[in-house]
Amino acid sequence: MTEAIKNYEDVDSWKTVIFLYNSALKEVGTKLEILNDEFQHVHRYNPIEHIKTRIKTPESIVKKLKRQGHETSIENMLKYVNDIAGVRLICSFTSDIYRLGEMIGNQSDLKILEIKDYIKNPKESGYKSYHMLVSVPIFLSDSVVDTKVEIQIRTIAMDFWASLEHKIYYKFEGDAPDYISQDLRECARMVSELDDKMLSLNDAIKAHLEQQERDERGMDSSEDSRKNENIMGYILGN
Ligand code: GTP
Ligand code: MG
Repeated sequence: MTEAIKNYEDVDSWKTVIFLYNSALKEVGTKLEILNDEFQHVHRYNPIEHIKTRIKTPESIVKKLKRQGHETSIENMLKYVNDIAGVRLICSFTSDIYRLGEMIGNQSDLKILEIKDYIKNPKESGYKSYHMLVSVPIFLSDSVVDTKVEIQIRTIAMDFWASLEHKIYYKFEGDAPDYISQDLRECARMVSELDDKMLSLNDAIKAHLEQQERDERGMDSSEDSRKNENIMGYILGN
C-alpha cells in the first residue's frame, strides 16, 4: 500500500489511506454477508449472529504507534498497525467460529497474513477470540492495493465478556485491583462452560430433530408401500 500513496502530500495520503481501509471493510463485509446468505440457503442456518465493522480513530492509531515505540507517520501506521480496519463476527456457537474461519480461508482473493487462536490459547486475562489478519485487494482505476483487515470471530458470550473486560481495563487504566481481575478470570471460565453447554445442547436438539425426521420418513415409506401393495392387489384382482 505504501507504493500507492507515495505521490500524495500528507493530508491527502491520510485521506487515501482511510479511503482504502473503508473500501477494504466494505469488501470484506460484503464477502461475509454472502457467505452467511449462502450458508442459510444451503443449510437453513446462519453462522453469523451479527457483524460489526469499525475504522480505528486517528487518536488510537497514534497511541498504538507510540506504545510500540514507533514515530507517528503514515508509513509506520501502514506497516505496524494491523487493526486500522476491523471486522467483528459474532456467532452463537464455538463450532461456528471455526466453520467461518475455514470459509474465510477458502476465499481465494483474501490473503491470510496471520491467525491468532485465543480460544485454544486464551490470554492471561481470560480473553477468548479467534483473530485473522487478512489482506484484500482493492481495485482502483489505475492500480490494485492490498489492504489489511483484522477479523475477530467470537461467540455472543465471549463478546459479552470482552466488552465488560475492555470497560474495566479502561476504567483502571490497565491496573485493575486483583480481586476484579480474578473475578473476570472466573467469569471467563463460566463463559467457556456456558459455550460448551450451549453447543452440546444444540447438537442434542439437532440429533433429536434428525431422528424425528427419519422416523417420520420411515413411517411415510411404510405407508407408501402399503398403498402400493393395495394398488397392486387391485390391479391383480386380489
Ligand atoms: P493489540 O492488542 O491491539 O496491541 O494488538 P496485538 O498485535 O497484540 O493483537 P491481538 O490479537 O493480541 O489483539 C488485537 C485486538 O484484540 C485488540 O485490539 C482488542 O480488540 C482485542 N483484544 C486482545 N486482547 C484482549 C483482551 O485481553 N481483552 C479484550 N477485551 N480485548 C482484547
Ligand atoms: Mg495485544
